[in-house]
Amino acid sequence: MKTVVFGPGYLGHRLAAALPDAVLVPGDISDAAFVREALAAHEAVAVVNAAGKTGRPNVDWCETHQRETYRSNVIGPLVLAEACEARGAYMLHVGSGCVFYGPSPSPGGWREDDFANPISYYSRTKYAADLALAPLAHVGVARLRMPLDGAPNPRNLITKLSRYPFVIDVENSVTVVDDFVAVAGELVQRRAQGVFHVTNPGVMRHRDLLAAYRAHVDAAHAAEFIAADQLTARGLASAARSNCILASDRLAALGIAMPPIEVALPRLMAEYARRA
Ligand SMILES: NC(=O)c1ccc[n+]([C@@H]2O[C@H](COP(=O)([O-])OP(=O)(O)OC[C@H]3O[C@@H](n4cnc5c(N)ncnc54)[C@H](OP(=O)(O)O)[C@@H]3O)[C@@H](O)[C@H]2O)c1
Repeated sequence: MKTVVFGPGYLGHRLAAALPDAVLVPGDISDAAFVREALAAHEAVAVVNAAGKTGRPNVDWCETHQRETYRSNVIGPLVLAEACEARGAYMLHVGSGCVFYGPSPSPGGWREDDFANPISYYSRTKYAADLALAPLAHVGVARLRMPLDGAPNPRNLITKLSRYPFVIDVENSVTVVDDFVAVAGELVQRRAQGVFHVTNPGVMRHRDLLAAYRAHVDAAHAAEFIAADQLTARGLASAARSNCILASDRLAALGIAMPPIEVALPRLMAEYARRA
């Protein structure tokens, strides 16, 4: 009786290592026969879907690889949801807050049921899956934003920002990976249905992250700050990037709290400095 984690990447490995009775299963989630057999072989009672095309070196890849992207980010999650429903298993899908671009329609940040305004192909596919999955009785969608943690990794926001010569001067909701994994475990245990915004309370400016980086990791670090619209205007990215602040009302309603980012950041940076 297992939780089967799909998607052997940055988050999939972390989730599989931390969730109780979890197994990380490689294989194509858009292949219905493979999925059915994998769930049966592991007697799955729950599935966590951390599989998806995120693009290498970044999401711009998805603009030019649309078929691969929609197969993994839209068809795959629906195949998993059908297979889970057939055997009465719960599914937690890893979604993204990058479906929202810019200021929220009401104060306090984008809410779980606000209609999103995705621009990039990657974020369109993430939202397409959310729209189809969110109403299903056996599915939860955990949206995170800009994951960061104490271990250097090309997918860790600290590593990403510290390597860019030009950094956009914006503020965002962000997610500490360890906290995300803990919340995912709670959602699986409760078979929580619908969309959840899994972000640490508070807002983080890229500037503040890099100031903490200089304080803890590398005093000589330097970057030039640019306006958000300069990212595509200067040809540094081809698809517009999401910057947004999320409200997490539905987690709060379940009584699930995450540490504020202003508390978590210095601790993460100290750990990052030790491991860099
Ligand atoms: N990291 C972030 O900034 C972030 C933020 C919000 C949400 N998310 C979401 O979190 C999930 C995991 O992201 P991540 O950061 O762990 O990305 P990642 O490191 O790229 O991991 C994704 C994994 O899924 C695999 N995959 C792709 N298509 C698949 C398919 N059809 N069947 C099975 N596996 C497939 C990838 O393999 P290949 O490399 O071979 O394609 C990769 O191993 C994604 O859905 C992503 O959209 C990520």
